[in-house]
Amino acid sequence: MGGLSRRSPAGGVEALIHLARRFFQSILDQGPDAAEEDWLMGLLSEREATLYAQMSPVDRSHALRSARCPALADDAQRVAAALHDVGKIQAGLGTWARVGATVAGVVLPGVLRGRWADYRDHPRLGAAMLRDAGSAELAVTWAAEHHLSTRKSSLPPDVAAALAAAD
Ligand SMILES: [Fe+2]
Ligand SMILES: [Fe+2]
Repeated sequence: MGGLSRRSPAGGVEALIHLARRFFQSILDQGPDAAEEDWLMGLLSEREATLYAQMSPVDRSHALRSARCPALADDAQRVAAALHDVGKIQAGLGTWARVGATVAGVVLPGVLRGRWADYRDHPRLGAAMLRDAGSAELAVTWAAEHHLSTRKSSLPPDVAAALAAAD
């Protein structure tokens, strides 16, 4: 879960704070709950479910927690919340490499290459994957914009705020 007012940008102190929170969630995570995954499968299309299944256990747990946020108004928002980080499957980085990619991206912006660059680029990659999968525009847009400030979001402010709260 995150703050409502400002989102972590692709670089900067907020990216590091977001990373620190996710890092501790990662090392404490017990893996996705099977009953929760069954519930989510009922909301996803077949192609979305295929993408979800490729996410790491830690990212699937994060997806389920996000989709269950009480701030979300409907199933379209729950699907968008669940799939916002799906672009991370392209990079396939573990916890420590994510720390490295995030810190390096803040300290040395523009120098990341390969999978580390893909990790930093996961919003754009995820949006493209969801578009290819035929996902709703809300899910595509939120994947693309989830690291932007909600003030910069193209979504209605209440929708962006709910989805930001869920992340
Ligand atoms: Fe993300
Ligand atoms: Fe996230």
